[in-house]
Amino acid sequence: MIIARSVLELQSALDPRDGTIGFVPTMGALHIGHRSLIDAARRENDTVVVSIFVNPTQFLPGEDLSKYPRREEADFKICELSGVDVLFYPDVSGMYGEDEVRICAPDGRGYILEGASRPGHFDGVLTVVMKLLNQVRPTRAYFGKKDAQQLALITQMVKNFFMDVEIVPMDTVREGDGLALSSRNVYLSPQERVEALKISASLKRATKQVMQGNLSAESIRQEMASILEPLNVEYIAIVNRAFESIDEVILGNTIILVAARVGTTRLIDNVWM
Ligand code: PAJ
Repeated sequence: MIIARSVLELQSALDPRDGTIGFVPTMGALHIGHRSLIDAARRENDTVVVSIFVNPTQFLPGEDLSKYPRREEADFKICELSGVDVLFYPDVSGMYGEDEVRICAPDGRGYILEGASRPGHFDGVLTVVMKLLNQVRPTRAYFGKKDAQQLALITQMVKNFFMDVEIVPMDTVREGDGLALSSRNVYLSPQERVEALKISASLKRATKQVMQGNLSAESIRQEMASILEPLNVEYIAIVNRAFESIDEVILGNTIILVAARVGTTRLIDNVWM
């Protein structure tokens, strides 16, 4: 595995290679959710590139940028064991300069739900993903459905800017008890981790209601709210794939999303149906 710490090193690692490139952008603290993206990239491409970059522009003032988990050694090992060819590990000065052009999230879809709770977050995400895609120039890039709105906005950016890359959506990987894997789960105390299970439980209940033929968004939301009640809920949303609010679940075109705080840790999860 080649570790490239600058764009120049990345390009000299990639230039001699033929065939397809599969790319997995991450912020590190890798877990088996990230692993599933890397494994898919490995199966479907000749060369696999993973980036690890804790992107400062997607954190709002007061968020967890300085304490975001950093696990260089373990992450390198995971990448190596997963068959990654090139690990791109740039520093902030290699990615950002002074007074730069930025990508703006769309006024509508970029400023609801996660974008309403974290205004400006998606500008930072889209800007860094644009940079990374231009640096790596992959055939395919892999993103998790766990960050559903991020995935939708990246897909839209690629379309709006006529970028030549296939965005591959990947299912959410969960612990045996239902908790969606997240680098932020390390912030949870054992008791908070138990509390956090209410999030996946509420989504499981919503899925069950839909299976039983109850498609009313209002009644699903109420049922979820009663399970989530002890937590500090930021939103429960029932939207179509375009992230428009809907009154009735449409099978094949619905995402149910939750954001809640457990203690001071902010967690998000969703189901696609
Ligand atoms: P990060 O949170 O490290 O996530 C990297 C990728 O892993 C994202 O596409 C995310 O959706 C996916 N992922 C996270 N948890 C997952 C899980 N439990 N199952 C499946 N996939 C999961 O998302 C980011 O980094 C950043 O915003 C980034 C896109 C790298 C831009 O900085």
